[in-house]
Amino acid sequence: MANIRNFCIIAHIDHGKSTLADRMLEITGTVDKRKMKNQLLDQMELERERGITIKLQPARMEWDGFILNLIDTPGHVDFTYEVSRSLAAVESAVLLVDATQGVEAQTLANLYLAVEQNLEIIPVMNKIDLPAANVEKVSQEIINLLGCNKEDILLISAKTGQGVTEVLKAICQKTPAPIEENKELQALIFDSNYDEYKGVVIYIRVFGGQINKGDRIKFCATGEISEVLDLGYFKPHWVSAKELNSGEIGYLVTGLKDLEKAQVGDTIISPKSQVKPLPGYKKVKPMVYAGIFPQEGNDYHKLREAILKLKLSDASLEFEPTNSSALGFGFRCGFLGLLHLEIFQERLKREFDLSLVVTTPTVAYKLHLRNKSEMILTTPTEMPDPSHIDYIEEPYMSIEVLTPQEYLGSLMSYITEKNGSHKDTKYLNENRVILSYAIPLSSILVDFYDNIKSISSGYASLNYEFFDYRRCELVRMDILVAEHPVEALTSLVYKNRAHHVGKSIIKKLKDVLPRAQFAIKLQAAVGGKIVAAEKISAMRKDVTAKLYGGDVTRKRKLLEKQKKGKKRMAQQGKIDIPQEAYLAVLKR
Ligand code: GTP
Repeated sequence: MANIRNFCIIAHIDHGKSTLADRMLEITGTVDKRKMKNQLLDQMELERERGITIKLQPARMEWDGFILNLIDTPGHVDFTYEVSRSLAAVESAVLLVDATQGVEAQTLANLYLAVEQNLEIIPVMNKIDLPAANVEKVSQEIINLLGCNKEDILLISAKTGQGVTEVLKAICQKTPAPIEENKELQALIFDSNYDEYKGVVIYIRVFGGQINKGDRIKFCATGEISEVLDLGYFKPHWVSAKELNSGEIGYLVTGLKDLEKAQVGDTIISPKSQVKPLPGYKKVKPMVYAGIFPQEGNDYHKLREAILKLKLSDASLEFEPTNSSALGFGFRCGFLGLLHLEIFQERLKREFDLSLVVTTPTVAYKLHLRNKSEMILTTPTEMPDPSHIDYIEEPYMSIEVLTPQEYLGSLMSYITEKNGSHKDTKYLNENRVILSYAIPLSSILVDFYDNIKSISSGYASLNYEFFDYRRCELVRMDILVAEHPVEALTSLVYKNRAHHVGKSIIKKLKDVLPRAQFAIKLQAAVGGKIVAAEKISAMRKDVTAKLYGGDVTRKRKLLEKQKKGKKRMAQQGKIDIPQEAYLAVLKR
């Protein structure tokens, strides 16, 4: 165990993580480079577009008398918990920064997590071969962040291989060897995936004891018991081994079919053992909800199949069937965050060729009821009567925006306008600033990231993380068409914004609803009180067209009759709302 070194790499997209890992695999003679590249290629396009780093396959390398285990942190802001579990599986982190770009917001967040967990941080600056490399400036950023010495920062080119051997040496020297926490089996699940043929495969770090092929194991959180069908190392492809020992990292084929039974962060032990689970396990809960419907009604089954398939490899996704008078049959889905939602929706479209209608996402509100119970509200129509509610809380995020100084003013006013409250401003160097805010999750759900990007001409980077629940004044707003509530258009809004939001929904409806023979009232109501109203005037059919001459009484009679008919029609509320009209209001 004394010669094992477990480490990870923290880096922003494109800063050279995969290139560095490739060089390490080459230098240590582990290589199976071609295979690795092929695996990565599949996911590349979508993740790149969204600024998500591609997750490396873990790798075990033998070099200079050491066993080096490299694992990766998921480069996706919604997966902070998973990142924290990956960091818990290692003793050190290589902080990899591009010498032409400097530190970015997401790197920062992961770095803080690593520091919190007492990992040894090994600062490395990459791409020093490029003419645009600004070693001085970027060194200063790293020094300001870590409080390290300039000589501690390793200067490398992952592309040419310059300096990479020194990185390996530093990892061997600086990373503490694992300590055996326990004599009995105790292993942390830091990642998991679903293999079509093998079922659930978990990636583990053994903290105590030993685990062998054929052993029976217990998952502490779920109580599930299963057998070790196979286990082994990452080379980086799976290579079977007889056992995994304390301090080691490897994969384990569980035979389970359901990812939820083997959760990231859970501990595996022997079924009869009294050993305590490792700290840090948490059941992650969705924060963002949206309705997903097929554009074509007869694609419902195809959508269902697709969601079930994606769910196999995505334990944090929640979904349940739903049915809307406007959009037909579909699913109400819960996600960890907005990027999770976006990726999911894109995968449905690209991998399953589905045309979808995705409703405006809402956040998970926490309702404290007068009878002292709590409920999580994710669907507007499930909002209980206000008399039952004591108070409501909404999720708040902690965000960090890293930006060149020149955009500071405009970014600050934009974030303030979105109800952000300022926490801190820190200078990374003389012209790069880290802004920290607390902001309601609902404020950043739609277009926030795009706006941050466009205000800063693309230079700012954003990171967000769940912070806490805070009180808010929330009301249910109903939309009435011809005095009939339209369920699909019910929404949750801040009390002081109800008039404004109601007005904008109604205006939109007015633009898209076809006119009828009679006038149509459009209203937004909160608790039975109308907060905004509009009217679509009647399309007047000339019922008097056939009359010649000047019989005024006859003419008046016909008009009266028409008026009565219209009134009756309006009372019956026979308004067919075409799907396009719903979509215009509901769609993001
Ligand atoms: P993701 O896989 O998207 O997370 O990015 P990454 O951090 O793994 O970056 P990757 O290794 O794919 O490198 C991004 C780009 O930078 C590629 O085009 C590399 O060829 C290039 N690159 C990486 N390291 C160096 C370097 O030291 N010098 C130069 N000139 N280019 C480099």
